[in-house]
Amino acid sequence: MVKHKVLIDLFCGTGGFSHGWIQGGGGIAVSVDNWEDALKNHAFNHPDVPVLNLSLGGDLQETAETLLAYLATYCAAHGIEPEDLHFHLHGSPPCQAISTASHSRASADGYFMVQWFIDLVALMNPDSWSMENVVPVRKFLDSLPTPIPYVVANANDYGVAQKRKRVFAGEGWVLKPTNEGLTVQDVLPDLIGSTLEPAPYMAAKKRWTKLGLDKPFPTVTSCSPSQIRIVSRRRKAHEEPQSYTIDKPAHTITQVNHIVEEIDEDTEEITKRGFTLSEAATLQGWPDLQFAEGLYAKSKRVMVGNMVCPPIAKVMCESL
Ligand SMILES: C[S@@+](CC[C@H](N)C(=O)[O-])C[C@H]1O[C@@H](n2cnc3c(N)ncnc32)[C@H](O)[C@@H]1O
Repeated sequence: MVKHKVLIDLFCGTGGFSHGWIQGGGGIAVSVDNWEDALKNHAFNHPDVPVLNLSLGGDLQETAETLLAYLATYCAAHGIEPEDLHFHLHGSPPCQAISTASHSRASADGYFMVQWFIDLVALMNPDSWSMENVVPVRKFLDSLPTPIPYVVANANDYGVAQKRKRVFAGEGWVLKPTNEGLTVQDVLPDLIGSTLEPAPYMAAKKRWTKLGLDKPFPTVTSCSPSQIRIVSRRRKAHEEPQSYTIDKPAHTITQVNHIVEEIDEDTEEITKRGFTLSEAATLQGWPDLQFAEGLYAKSKRVMVGNMVCPPIAKVMCESL
């Protein structure tokens, strides 16, 4: 008999991982975070999934007991016998402290939560488990006395129009690439012509080549993808911004919005705007993400920038 794949999703945010898991055919016993806005939005998108507001990182035994009670409740409600259960434990411990895509300074806290999650896995002994984090976490994982297997997955290899790289550590699954090489224009075909008001400083009709970017744009034609350039971010205050064109996958989507710049080839006027939340979610691989009433725009932007690309979680679930 095919086992029921049941997830407990820790540090779940708005549920990028949870969402992909459901798409992969799995069920969810509980999704946990300590950010009320994210849980509200998780519940809005997945009304059948229990969410728990709990500050993780405390007593391991107590946490395990709480989570196992949710698992038992789920199994009882769905008539799942122990021998028919495949229990998967996932965690995305906070990564800001060690992310290279963050301006915040490194602190020990990021590693504390990673270590705490690894200790919880050892205590709960799930049938399979996964931990998602930023690429620099490899140094920490490599330094552990007992090696932990991990892969670096590029979302663009899983049908996501973004070259987001994240570490997935854990056991019991494989991440086999599915649909490689999607570009921004594949998933956002209406971007050309969609920019709004010209920005005031652009009103002087400067060409992109005069904007100080290291890679000037080629000559544009009326239907060329090169009409649009997307500025992803300044890595450091004194560095030039990075940019990409829509015939490429997006740079990593974070809580700092990318700027879509469009040039009118006749007037040379440049208009620009940020990605809408829906566009950013689409580039994360969750095009129909919904937002609950009453959330601040900043909160929504953080949730979207934080999330695991659902197609990766889907592939993981399907591989079990
Ligand atoms: C990288 S995000 C998770 C993204 C999520 N896996 C997804 O796919 O959408 C990390 C999450 O950890 C949560 N978090 C940080 N510290 C926490 C703690 N001590 N207890 C519970 N959640 C925490 C944050 O609120 C944030 O939503």
